[in-house]
Amino acid sequence: MEALLDEVQRVGYVNKPVDSDVDLIAEINRLKQEKNAVILAHYYVDGAIQDIADYIGDSLGLSQQAASTEADMIVFCGVHFMGETAKILSPHKKVVIPDLNAGCSLADSAPADKFAAFKAQYPDHIVLSYINCSAEIKALSDIIVTSSNALKIVESLPKDQKIIFAPDANLGRFVMNKTGRDMVLWDGACIVHIDISLEKLQRLRTENPDAEFIAHPECQEHILSQADYVGSTTALLKYVVDSPKQTFIVGTEAGILHKMRQAVPHKKIIPAPASQNNTCACSECPYMKMNTLEKLYNCMLYEQPEIFVPEDVRVKAEASVIRMLEMSK
Ligand code: 13P
Ligand code: SF4
Repeated sequence: MEALLDEVQRVGYVNKPVDSDVDLIAEINRLKQEKNAVILAHYYVDGAIQDIADYIGDSLGLSQQAASTEADMIVFCGVHFMGETAKILSPHKKVVIPDLNAGCSLADSAPADKFAAFKAQYPDHIVLSYINCSAEIKALSDIIVTSSNALKIVESLPKDQKIIFAPDANLGRFVMNKTGRDMVLWDGACIVHIDISLEKLQRLRTENPDAEFIAHPECQEHILSQADYVGSTTALLKYVVDSPKQTFIVGTEAGILHKMRQAVPHKKIIPAPASQNNTCACSECPYMKMNTLEKLYNCMLYEQPEIFVPEDVRVKAEASVIRMLEMSK
């Protein structure tokens, strides 16, 4: 019985069936008012969730919202490290996420004990960590960065400052190429972005000679070298809106296409092809896609699963995230 209670505590009522006569959108909006909740969503979650969210953005924008919201409850539709970051920044608020199993391959690629041993080999280096990492890694870091501020933050550091960059080696290499800085890289990667196929991409570009190829810096170097523009999800969306071009091949998780197509319905937006099979499948993050309207409804109704971060870890992690927010102004 105790084990069952622990399990309910851990995963909440994530898979509890919802009666088919429940109007999910109306109920989620009602719960939002009743509980003074704010729904934050990343661009990679399902379009129906993006449409009901109070704020959609990239990791930097979402952190800024989590730090400044006046809501009592933050409902984070994204992945676990995003909910954790919200809790780090707003420890007195309740933070819930629709599915606690929504992890991230990048965050998983850096276990805290192994990273601490790695860091110990470079005592004269500071640690810059991409926000896609656990609270423990944030606590071991000096400054957190996102895809939208990594270049600016690295460029603002003294030229002779030695740097460890973790956990995304692809973003790290991109920053090194752009800034000319040398950094020690932790060898992590995003399973979604590294799966974009160069061969299929080149075929797609031949079929769409007027298209611009834009990509997220989590992609591998041989893909980024083909790109007309590289940026965070928000930056990619802005690029598609602002560019005079009419056709774009988008090298990131396909969820961003929802907002792009809403913003510029007259433009042609094509997802960059993934390599894992022979069809022209686009790139989808299996973790982000764990967020469903049913799970969102259950998590708002039962206020579970909730995110907790041990206070000693939170305080150290908060310092590195706050440093990022300050340096991003
Ligand atoms: P941004 O939205 O900050 O560009 O990050 C992309 C991502 O991989 C989130 O998991
Ligand atoms: Fe993590 Fe990649 Fe999914 Fe983003 S797209 S949450 S980096 S696995």
